[in-house]
Amino acid sequence: MQTLLNRNVLLGVTGGIAAYKSAQLVRLLVKAGCEVQVVMTPGAHDFITPLTLATLSKRPVLTELIDRNGTGTWNDHVHLARWADVVVVAPATANTIGKMVHGLCDNLLLACFLSAECPVFVAPAMDLEMWRDPSTRRNIDLLKERNIRTIGPEAGELASGLTGEGRMSEPEAIVQELISGLLGKSKLSGRRILISAGPTQEAIDPVRYIGNRSTGKMGFALAEEAALRGANVQLVTGPVDLELDRPGITRTDVVSAAEMAAACKQMAAECDVVIMSAAVADYRPAQAANEKMKKSGGSLEVPLEPTEDILAGLGAAKRRGQRLVGFALETDNELAHAKEKLVRKNLDLLVLNSLRDPGAGFGTDTNKVTLLVPGTDPVELPLMSKAEVARAILDRLEELL
Ligand code: CTP
Repeated sequence: MQTLLNRNVLLGVTGGIAAYKSAQLVRLLVKAGCEVQVVMTPGAHDFITPLTLATLSKRPVLTELIDRNGTGTWNDHVHLARWADVVVVAPATANTIGKMVHGLCDNLLLACFLSAECPVFVAPAMDLEMWRDPSTRRNIDLLKERNIRTIGPEAGELASGLTGEGRMSEPEAIVQELISGLLGKSKLSGRRILISAGPTQEAIDPVRYIGNRSTGKMGFALAEEAALRGANVQLVTGPVDLELDRPGITRTDVVSAAEMAAACKQMAAECDVVIMSAAVADYRPAQAANEKMKKSGGSLEVPLEPTEDILAGLGAAKRRGQRLVGFALETDNELAHAKEKLVRKNLDLLVLNSLRDPGAGFGTDTNKVTLLVPGTDPVELPLMSKAEVARAILDRLEELL
């Protein structure tokens, strides 16, 4: 099953009997790899305890905009809405749907909804007559007009004892709808994509090597996200401490720049997209010693020779329709160097890292990058997790496919 790895889900729970299913929904979303922040309306507290949802989501449940105990604290709906990659309201009562449509925001969930710019999904749940009522029908139409996606409701036995339309969709079905709604239309689905990751190690002798500080986190995040979008990923990685066991990813481990070049060149011919995120050594010892080098009193010189620039070679051999993404790590005159690299290596997209930014670069879980596409202005992204950066890179790439 596809997952929603690393998505931030703001789950709104409103006051209807179907709120008992929200516990299972939280469980499934967490299992699918999401961070879940539950926001309950005051009415929802009559149907399910915050403790249940807080325990399952591993986060305190929020309800109030303002702390009524006079502490002067409040829940920042704007920040919550920006944090969310998707807002899901399940169950959504007729009352909350009506308020959403009319822009009312007398509770935290509605204030978050009104601030949200991400996709919103609504799973209505109510009794048959309420669902059929012309005002509900009109409100649902208005939601759809505003590109808010509705899931269900299903027909069946209702809590009132009546039978008909109004049951909230099952949590499994809601998660499936979210997956297909958020990922289903990915242009990467079914495409073959080569991603290189990690450092290379260039042997000096059987014991020592020249390496760099790359940990492979960025490349692995890209591989996971691409697989999530249905791509068939070939991951070529230098020596890293990372594990990955996800359907859709075939991993090839290499050590040196020469091994990485051989693997990438062979696979690139078959791929629609190549992303070179590996920190490939630019130089290697001209002659690796067969035996361990013994120290001598004086200084040591190890002659180096250039390695093959894999990306430049792939750029020169780029097929029509193939897309090539490179990385650049610059410490000075960043944009000028990056622009020059974009052209020289015949790239469609260049991801510029700056080591100057705190939280960006090697070993961190966050990164701060600028995306460069030929003929357009560079787009500087804020500091984000590497998973979020991976998504931003692939979103931009999809626009180029
Ligand atoms: N790269 C590569 N083969 C190499 C060196 C780098 O394919 N031998 C790729 C990297 O994977 C990255 C891009 O080239 O996508 C940029 O590498 P970088 O080291 O920043 O630039 P260089 O072209 O090596 O130029 P310089 O070191 O002079 O900045």
